[in-house]
Amino acid sequence: MRHFITGAGSGIGAAVAAALQARGDELVLLARTKERATELATVFPGATFMVGDLAQPTALEAMLALAVLPWALDSLLHIAGIARLDRVRTMSAMDARDQLNVNLVSPMVLTSALLPALRRRRGRVVFANSSAGIQSRPGWAAYGASKFGLRGFADSLRAEERSTGVRVTSLYLGRTATPMQRRVHVQEGWDYDPSRWMQPDTVAESVVQLLDLPGDADIPAVWMRPPAPVTDDDLEAAVHQQAPASRTHRGFGERDHHETERDGLSFS
Ligand SMILES: NC(=O)c1ccc[n+]([C@@H]2O[C@H](COP(=O)([O-])OP(=O)(O)OC[C@H]3O[C@@H](n4cnc5c(N)ncnc54)[C@H](OP(=O)(O)O)[C@@H]3O)[C@@H](O)[C@H]2O)c1
Repeated sequence: MRHFITGAGSGIGAAVAAALQARGDELVLLARTKERATELATVFPGATFMVGDLAQPTALEAMLALAVLPWALDSLLHIAGIARLDRVRTMSAMDARDQLNVNLVSPMVLTSALLPALRRRRGRVVFANSSAGIQSRPGWAAYGASKFGLRGFADSLRAEERSTGVRVTSLYLGRTATPMQRRVHVQEGWDYDPSRWMQPDTVAESVVQLLDLPGDADIPAVWMRPPAPVTDDDLEAAVHQQAPASRTHRGFGERDHHETERDGLSFS
């Protein structure tokens, strides 16, 4: 199988690319710069690279118009993304624009350019969406807007491609232990304990299963999240483990991880 992947340089994308390469699949990776492509070539020997900055969708579109694109693809995995937390009152246009460009506009541009290749293989498009694409919260306005947009785009794409056999999945992820999640914790003012969150390899395992789904079925949406405490005692114990004194402040949400997990709202 041949896969086009964004975000293979870190976190979930790196785990997915590694899992697919380990079983002998062919990778076409988008790197944001030539230098990044050279670095990633040592991690994923044999992969093919395209260079494009997702923060610059117009330049990306121009590059794709001139490039020799893969002839046929079994999947297009939109995994790259950025998250910058801020309140609506203080957010900047630049931060909002960057998140919308990387998380939404560039995936739209890439999908459009690669659809012919996907149709040739009746391939699958996977969007790494987020719990914030189901319900957004204080501090997550721009990121949430980008992921809500991505959900709408995926729904239209799925409906448009029904007759071509291209299948489309939105993957609504809860917190996963990646460099992005570490940065999110810094922005929230919380201590970071990666063992509390889903591991990138677990998410990668689900993506691989999704790609291997036989043609007689489809999975349009998956919601993956770390398991929530299941009883009042579990919850109590969990709250004591994460004592408020261990945090510098309560951050954007003014509720802690366990409260959000209990409500089924585990971000980002
Ligand atoms: N981690 C979570 O808790 C979580 C939860 C829900 C949803 N998600 C979603 O899952 C996806 C992956 O997140 P992650 O946690 O694995 O993030 P990550 O570790 O920060 O990795 C993000 C990847 O995106 C790439 N990227 C960012 N900006 C780019 C740009 N302008 N052009 C090209 N590539 C760019 C990065 O490239 P470099 O390698 O060059 O830096 C990196 O490979 C994202 O869409 C995120 O929104 C994550």
